Amino acid sequence: MPTPKDYRKFMKSDLWLEMQGRPTDQQRRLPHPPLQKPYPQDAELIDLPPVSEMTLGELSVRDAIARRQSRRRFTDEALTLDELAYLAWATQGVHRVWRGGIAVRRTVPSAGARHSFETYLVVSRVEGLEVGLYRYLSLEHKLQLLLADPGLPQRAAAACHDQTFVGTSAVTFLWTAVPYRTEWRYALMTPKLVNMDAGHVCENLYLAAESIGAGTCAIAAYSQAAADALLGVDGEEEFAIYVAPVGKV
Ligand SMILES: Cc1cc2nc3c(=O)[nH]c(=O)nc-3n(C[C@H](O)[C@H](O)[C@H](O)COP(=O)(O)O)c2cc1C
Repeated sequence: MPTPKDYRKFMKSDLWLEMQGRPTDQQRRLPHPPLQKPYPQDAELIDLPPVSEMTLGELSVRDAIARRQSRRRFTDEALTLDELAYLAWATQGVHRVWRGGIAVRRTVPSAGARHSFETYLVVSRVEGLEVGLYRYLSLEHKLQLLLADPGLPQRAAAACHDQTFVGTSAVTFLWTAVPYRTEWRYALMTPKLVNMDAGHVCENLYLAAESIGAGTCAIAAYSQAAADALLGVDGEEEFAIYVAPVGKV
């Protein structure tokens, strides 16, 4: 039975030493992985309003930080599509693709600009959207409907060990990790770096939610198998890593 001590090495930086003399896939000049998980060419995409044209979220950074707390009680109010677009952009929005297409700069930092995340949304109450599971395609700033199903919010709550506030959110963000995107450059360091990166993503959601009169609560207590099944990911090359229900407060 492994003990917490067995896992501590993933929190420490000496793995850089272990990597010496073992070239990474990037150093071996293997092709870089796609910046975003591909989607079917014929997928019907939903346009999101451009954030540059919105006046949402003008609370000062200082006030957003001062107000931030984990929110587990939500009103019945729906989010507008503008608000959802703003929250999605705040967590994974793209500034620009750079370094000849091998990396991307986003609204959050990421080690080596690897950004190993995909964003899934269990939508319950967002104006103009059916209840169901969506992907946020950050490069396009669009949504892809994966599954319309009124039962999904309750399945999401069940996947989070029945934390009931997941089922009462207006939308629940579920981020997956695609580890190879970071492994290609950082090999053994990946578990540490991806977990650090995930924190930035969720903190931006906390602050952006506060700025529109909404709130969120980070969730790590979920069933890995149930969350992966909910999202329809393989649990190996892509798996759930973090959950955050959002609603008006
Ligand atoms: C990585 C992480 C995982 C968390 N997982 C859960 C969770 O599964 N359920 C929950 O109710 N809160 C969860 N929280 C929220 C913490 O309980 C909360 O941040 C902490 O109690 C401090 O409260 P505050 O965020 O209001 O300052 C998590 C927070 C973090 C950062």
